[in-house]
Amino acid sequence: MPLRFVLFLVGLVFLPVHADERPPAAAIASAHPLATEAGFEILKAGGNAFDAAVAVSAALAVVEPYSSGLGGGGFWLLHEAEKDRQVMIDGRERAPLAAHRDMYLDAKGEVIPRLSMDGALAAGIPGVPAALDHLAREYGCLPLAVSLAPAIRLAREGFPVTGHYRRMAAFRLAAFAESPEAARLFLQAGQPPELGHVIRQPDLAWVLERMAEEGADGFYRGEVARRLVAGVRAAGGIWTEEDLAGYRVVEREPVRGRYRGHEVISAAPPSSGGVALITMLNILAGFDLAALDEAGRVHLVVEAMRRAYRDRAEYLGDPESVAIPRERLLHPFYADGLRMSIRTDRATPSASLPGAVPPGGGDDTTHFSILDADGNAVAATLSINYPFGAVFVPPGTGVLLNDEMDDFSTKPGVPNAYGLVGAEANAIAPGKRPLSSMTPTFVRNDERLAVLGAPGGSRIITMVLLGTLEAVEGKPPLAWVSRPRIHHQYLPDVLQHEPGALDAPTRKGLEVRGHVLREQQPWGNMQAVLWERASDGRVEAASDPRVEGMAAVRVVRDE
Ligand code: DON
Repeated sequence: MPLRFVLFLVGLVFLPVHADERPPAAAIASAHPLATEAGFEILKAGGNAFDAAVAVSAALAVVEPYSSGLGGGGFWLLHEAEKDRQVMIDGRERAPLAAHRDMYLDAKGEVIPRLSMDGALAAGIPGVPAALDHLAREYGCLPLAVSLAPAIRLAREGFPVTGHYRRMAAFRLAAFAESPEAARLFLQAGQPPELGHVIRQPDLAWVLERMAEEGADGFYRGEVARRLVAGVRAAGGIWTEEDLAGYRVVEREPVRGRYRGHEVISAAPPSSGGVALITMLNILAGFDLAALDEAGRVHLVVEAMRRAYRDRAEYLGDPESVAIPRERLLHPFYADGLRMSIRTDRATPSASLPGAVPPGGGDDTTHFSILDADGNAVAATLSINYPFGAVFVPPGTGVLLNDEMDDFSTKPGVPNAYGLVGAEANAIAPGKRPLSSMTPTFVRNDERLAVLGAPGGSRIITMVLLGTLEAVEGKPPLAWVSRPRIHHQYLPDVLQHEPGALDAPTRKGLEVRGHVLREQQPWGNMQAVLWERASDGRVEAASDPRVEGMAAVRVVRDE
């Protein structure tokens, strides 16, 4: 790996401090160097971690258009150091008010392929603009006019196309062919742009400027809202100005659990991430993993994954619409019961567990982690779902819309266009939020605070599980983000693994137990930060070596 990349991936500042004092430096890990720099620019301007989160989210909306954006949604998990308070900002998209459960079915009740994935009808009402306004007003110390400035500049002046951008654009070429405005903005003569080609987005800069002046109203009301609705409706969508004006973020109590002396704080429903993560950790807490060989360890981790994903599919959805047995699912006694059903010598066939359905998930999304010099922290995972979302831009806005409606089950009980089946809890309803897997997470005890998360659809939760296990063992963030990955999601009943993740004896030990192994291309793009507050005050940040992110640790303020 070239040295330049290694330096991009890891940051580290090591200064002696005493427990509970402030960190010696700030840290940011994000999926794009320009977004990480935007965050530091705002910290240097006197902003806190929450202002930096606004700047990073907005910059990613510009330079990572395939992953997240103003036309999408996300979850921001916040840690306010002074109050020792954690809260989740739910900026998840909502179904338009005219949405209904059969909206992607034809007259015969069959799913119409790609209707929930490509084009105006696939888009939920975005939550990112409202969340940025909320973050700035309730938690930041700088106005949006300051924290959005780096993103506005990037949108006006442009950013160079990278290899990852080209791969994402190539993946969505068929959808771009149906979408002239999106193709004009993000392709070059109908093809993925050349490396280094500069993407300028003056319409998006204008929308960001409206938000800098008017806050959320600059997006959800007035001229921007009119253009968004006109563009969506002209292309067969169902948005109304009432949908936009009625969008609200929700502050939610994160889910909490304990694992080997650490508190784990993670995303609440409508994400399934935190509940599934804590279920898996509760199951694993009853095993002495360190005493096992690698095959025995992987087997138990996979059996924990299988059971948590079954429950995810069965019980989880938008908490405003479905009753979630949250306390029960998070209770260690419940996990004790699940653990008792695990045999150490044999894989449990998923078909033998009480029936439910597998989760959905797309191919792109983004995560960033921030720690400021006061000890405030943000873990945020943001999405427009598939690469380049719905590949649809309402003319005159520059806002690429999400296809998060595909995270609903398009037809409960019947496989959707991707072979996935959904449960009633996640059926489409007006104003409802689709079930997510995004899992921004804090892992902490008196000694350390770890901030982590990743994109990757249904595989997000198992990536965060593996990262959490590494963090609890005291390994550094570079180990969490680069660790070879394994995944099981109940159905299909296969153990997915990255190339090289399992050596030959381990593979054999798993196959003997009855696991079906499937090697997949590497996945994920984890971004992580660690503050070792008690021992040596070390602050570290790391960016997943699989993609193009940047992690850095810097002293930003003279005190
Ligand atoms: O909210 C979710 O779970 C999905 N929309 C996330 C999609 C995703 O992470 C795709 N990533 N690579």
